[in-house]
Amino acid sequence: MKELIKKLVEAWGPSGYEHHVREIIRQEVAPFADDIRVDPLGNLICRVGKGGKKIMIAAHMDEIGVMALYTEKSSGYMRFAPIGGVLNSSLLGMRVRFENGATGVIAAHDYFGTGRTSSAELDNFFIDVNDGSANLVPSGSPAIFWRDYEERGSRLIAKSMDDRIGCVVAIEAMRRLNKQSPNEIYFVFTVQEEVGLRGARAAGYGVDPDLAIALDVTSTGDMAKNSKMEVKLGGGAAIKVHDTGLVVPPAVRDWMINRAQSDGIPYQLELLTLGTTDAAGIQTARAGVPSGAISIPCRYVHTTSETVDSNDIEACIKLLTGLVGNTVTL
Ligand code: CO
Ligand code: ZN
Repeated sequence: MKELIKKLVEAWGPSGYEHHVREIIRQEVAPFADDIRVDPLGNLICRVGKGGKKIMIAAHMDEIGVMALYTEKSSGYMRFAPIGGVLNSSLLGMRVRFENGATGVIAAHDYFGTGRTSSAELDNFFIDVNDGSANLVPSGSPAIFWRDYEERGSRLIAKSMDDRIGCVVAIEAMRRLNKQSPNEIYFVFTVQEEVGLRGARAAGYGVDPDLAIALDVTSTGDMAKNSKMEVKLGGGAAIKVHDTGLVVPPAVRDWMINRAQSDGIPYQLELLTLGTTDAAGIQTARAGVPSGAISIPCRYVHTTSETVDSNDIEACIKLLTGLVGNTVTL
């Protein structure tokens, strides 16, 4: 599974440009799906089983990044706009990678002055993507923040754990189900979550499920001087109760808690005060879809060193497989 994790987190796929990630996943899940299609927005929709409850599982394929805007005439540097929730404090010295393989370096104007100490404004930054004679990408080129995957014991560190690790949880659940389920499950690998749950909203309408579960990372409350949050890295699968876009119906929450308890899966409850997931987009599809989320605890979300724990990943896979692999009486 670690090979798959490395392959997915190192793949290139800013919001709206998920095609490389989609191809990797499509090949990976082909043996474990009864039917695979791509909808008009680019969501990859994989069905397992027929009849029974229609359950939609959503994990987003996209990652945050930047969009090259224009070459500044005076300096020759590339100005850029964020794609998704880019943290300006993490930008200085960051490498970005364009689809053609060109590496850009993000730096700040007035480098010997305030540029390197207090540049929180996006306007102070630019991308150096010049090879000595010309810029290697035209305006309108998207890029990702590049860093390779590393391990430290049970900790796995990479860019875009948000949300490729959610994709891994879905893929592994499909592998373990091996097409056996009393339900009709739609594993949806969504596009454009980071820019506003756009893929999930469309897929929620198209799939028209009875019930939905989003798989995504969540923050942890175990860092220094942190927000009041109980989720701990290594503390098990996080069952969402509440976030800024979703109040999980108690019946959905309890369905998950009961499954975790009866299967002996370590779990914790997630109450998140900053951010939401695809479930928030799916819940209002058509006449409404009861929706919940299984979250993978993750430190340093939206940096290139997003850190997860392999024990939590296993707990999330077991919980998801147990939930969708058994008859649902909700
Ligand atoms: Co995110
Ligand atoms: Zn995410």
